[in-house]
Parts: sequence; C-alpha cells; structure tokens
Amino acid sequence: MFPIILIHGFPLDARMWTSQAEFLRGRGYAVLTPNLPGFGGTPPLPRDQTSMEAFAHEIHQLIIREAGGRAIVGGFSMGGYVLQALLRSHPETVVAAMFLNTRAEADSPTAREGRLKSIEAITQNGPASLIETMLGKVLAPHPSPTVQSQARAIMASQSPQGIINAQFAMSQRRDQTDLLATLTIPTLIISGAQDATSPPSVALAMQSHIPHAPLIQIASAGHLAPMEQPIAVNTAIAEFLRLAASR
Ligand code: MLT
Repeated sequence: MFPIILIHGFPLDARMWTSQAEFLRGRGYAVLTPNLPGFGGTPPLPRDQTSMEAFAHEIHQLIIREAGGRAIVGGFSMGGYVLQALLRSHPETVVAAMFLNTRAEADSPTAREGRLKSIEAITQNGPASLIETMLGKVLAPHPSPTVQSQARAIMASQSPQGIINAQFAMSQRRDQTDLLATLTIPTLIISGAQDATSPPSVALAMQSHIPHAPLIQIASAGHLAPMEQPIAVNTAIAEFLRLAASR
C-alpha cells in the first residue's frame, strides 16, 4: 500500500485531517499530514517565494524523503491547488489523486482583488476579521458548534505572515484546467453539497475534464466537508482506495 499524504487548506493546518488520518491509519495506511510553510507553526517562506509551486516542492521533498518516492495524495481547497502544481511538476510521484472541495481555475479579477484587500486588512488589523468572514462562508447552514469552534481555533492559531503570503500566492496561481485532461491515474473528486466557496458546479467542471474520476457529493456539508461530515468523507475515500487498489 502506498502512503497517503493529505494537504490542508487555508488558513488551516494538519489538524483539519484528524478524523481522516485516524480512520485511514486504522485501515493500515501510513498517513502523512504535513503543515505547509507558514501554517501549523512552521516558518513561512518569504512572500516573494511563496507559491503553489513552492508548496508543491515541499510536498515533493516529503514524498521522496518519507514515502519512498510515490504516494496517494489528497488536497483540500488550497491543498488541491498545491496537488495540481505537484501533478504538473512531478506527476510520477502521485499514484492516485484526491481533490476535495477545490477547483482548477485561477482567481477571477474580483476574487484576486478581494484577496489583495484582505491582505491590506490583515496587515493593518490582524487576521481576526478574515477568519470570522471565512467561518461565515465555509460551513453549511446551522453548523455544529464543535466543528465551528475547532475550525476557529485552527484558523486563529496561524501566523498572520503565513496567511498573508498564502493569500497572495493563491491570488497569483495559474489556471490548471489543461492539466486535468492529462490525468490517467485514479482520481477522486469530493464536493460539499452546500459548499459556497468551491460549489458543486466547480467540482462538476473539474470532472468534465477527468471523466474517469468519480465525483462524490457530501450531503449536509459546506466547504469544510472533511471536518463537517467526516464519516461520509472517510467512506468516500475508503471506497475510492479500494477501487484504486484493484485497478
Ligand atoms: C481554502 O479552503 O483553502 C480556501 O478557501 C482556498 C481559497 O481561498 O481559494
């Protein structure tokens, strides 16, 4: 069995994968949940060196160092952008790909402008307002107070510089749509039925370029599906891994 690497989203860290890591380890997998530079207490890269490609380089090094050169890789949202950058630079290291609540397109001009404004606001007042705005968007209506407070605690513990650098890097990221059609490895797409950040239509657009990829829509989940509906997400991953192993 190949090791599994799960790449977190923004502004989150490895703790978002607590349920998936425990579940998959219980099934015998080696699971690595790295913290990207600037998150989970790791030092940020300099701002002008922060990019989805630089994050992908870190994941590539991890695969070489700790996964014997090949791994099953899952990426949530920003982690999905990183996974796409990795698939472009080092496709030979990824034996199966899992895209969770993510997209292939670059930012629209409006989204990019929003990120630049949020960087200004964080620089002046810190990230509290960005975090509250995000919390209002990333969970399905009537969220579990436990999940909400876990997500808030994870977000609030990130370094402002790490958040700023990643926010800027995401604003500059390339469109990866052309990469998707080149994927021949087993691929899974997961979306939250009530994801307002990467809505199901975006997941469907990804799937239209990777016809062999099953698209699993998680009911009663917003953007943070792996934390909001861990059992459904874990079940989808387990079924995908079972099918991928039998290929
Ligand atoms: C994430 O969850 O990683 C972010 O929503 C990604 C983004 O801001 O594009």
